[in-house]
Amino acid sequence: MRLSHVYPAETSPWGVRTFRFDMLVDGMVAGTISLRPATTHLLTHLSGQIGFSVEPGFRGRGLAAKAVRALVPAARAHGLNELWFTTTPDNVASRRTLEKLGCVLVESVAVPEDYVSHASGERTKLRYRLDLLG
Ligand SMILES: CC(C)(COP(=O)(O)OP(=O)(O)OC[C@H]1O[C@@H](n2cnc3c(N)ncnc32)[C@H](O)[C@@H]1OP(=O)(O)O)[C@@H](O)C(=O)NCCC(=O)NCCS
Repeated sequence: MRLSHVYPAETSPWGVRTFRFDMLVDGMVAGTISLRPATTHLLTHLSGQIGFSVEPGFRGRGLAAKAVRALVPAARAHGLNELWFTTTPDNVASRRTLEKLGCVLVESVAVPEDYVSHASGERTKLRYRLDLLG
């Protein structure tokens, strides 16, 4: 993992300081993961405190789960005792990744009209919680 960007709260789309990392495989960027270590409603209910994406050619190796595990100490260091993730009901790879990590599906919530992904048709988010204390 390599830190690629630190976005100050003022310019971050989530309104909080955000750390973005590259997932590296043999020196190549296989994916990215962002840590947003704050507890705003936007993060805990809609966008998640962590977001990840793996390049198609690198999928199938569980890289997203590995990257999340690698960020847990940083999340703890920022004072978080739990992490909230969100995904959509049809995102099987993301849901399976979260379940493998030990996240618990807490609830599904309606995507409000003023949230960015509503325009692209998203209507429901699933909220998953990962306990960092256990
Ligand atoms: C979600 C994502 C990051 C996962 O990438 P990855 O770490 O390579 O995940 P994998 O391909 O190893 O799959 C993880 C698990 O999901 C399962 N899975 C993946 N696609 C699946 C599918 N279509 N149907 C059923 N299971 C599937 C895999 O079998 C694996 O489970 P297993 O270990 O029990 O076999 C990747 O698919 C991605 O970048 N998607 C687009 C961006 C995105 O959706 N990000 C998350 C936003 S919430």
